[in-house]
Amino acid sequence: MLLNSREILVKDGRTGVLRNPDPEADAVALIRHLKRIVTETEFLLRYPEECDWTEAQERKILSESNADEMRLMLVCEIEGEIAGMCGLSMNRQIKFRHRASLDIGLQKRFWNLGIGTAMLEALTKAAKARGLMQLELEYIEGNARGRALYEKMGFTEVARHPDAVRFKDGSMRSLVFMMKKL
Ligand SMILES: CC(C)(COP(=O)(O)OP(=O)(O)OC[C@H]1O[C@@H](n2cnc3c(N)ncnc32)[C@H](O)[C@@H]1OP(=O)(O)O)[C@@H](O)C(=O)NCCC(=O)NCCS
Repeated sequence: MLLNSREILVKDGRTGVLRNPDPEADAVALIRHLKRIVTETEFLLRYPEECDWTEAQERKILSESNADEMRLMLVCEIEGEIAGMCGLSMNRQIKFRHRASLDIGLQKRFWNLGIGTAMLEALTKAAKARGLMQLELEYIEGNARGRALYEKMGFTEVARHPDAVRFKDGSMRSLVFMMKKL
């Protein structure tokens, strides 16, 4: 799904651009971005070796996402660099069409600058414009920054799935499910 790009003011005074990814121009940078963010936090769902797709595969993923009315992918670009990306996944099935789930991931040096807030505002606006009734997400227990952002944006916890995540060291965490009515 394509959206008009828009500028955001970041807390450090810089300007960012929220826009759809460009499959040709962004594929390499987005693979690098993903590999980097999964090493910077334990709160994303993959390990680095699970982010090993090729540039051609990434271009295809981005093109298909932009063309798919049930998917929205946005990146935040700051001074020519991808600071983060976020996405909205809508449901085709009639019984689930009122719901969409979101995901988000920023590079560590861009945390706490208000970019997550701006991204969630953009996803919420797009979801409302599509007539969706609720937004949903899940996060790994312990992600206080994520939780603070989600609560600030009006999400409330609806469930916990105990031991849903198992790290390589064998420790387990819950997945926490949150929801926001639109
Ligand atoms: C979680 C994430 C998306 C948040 O985006 P962000 O741009 O850093 O968030 P913002 O700056 O817009 O807002 C963060 C809020 O959390 C608060 N916060 C930061 N660290 C916190 C902490 N340890 N505990 C509680 N609140 C915290 C900030 O003060 C801010 O609130 P404010 O705007 O009222 O001051 C981003 O940090 C990120 O990508 N993290 C790594 C990947 C990840 O966790 N993704 C989500 C997986 S579910």
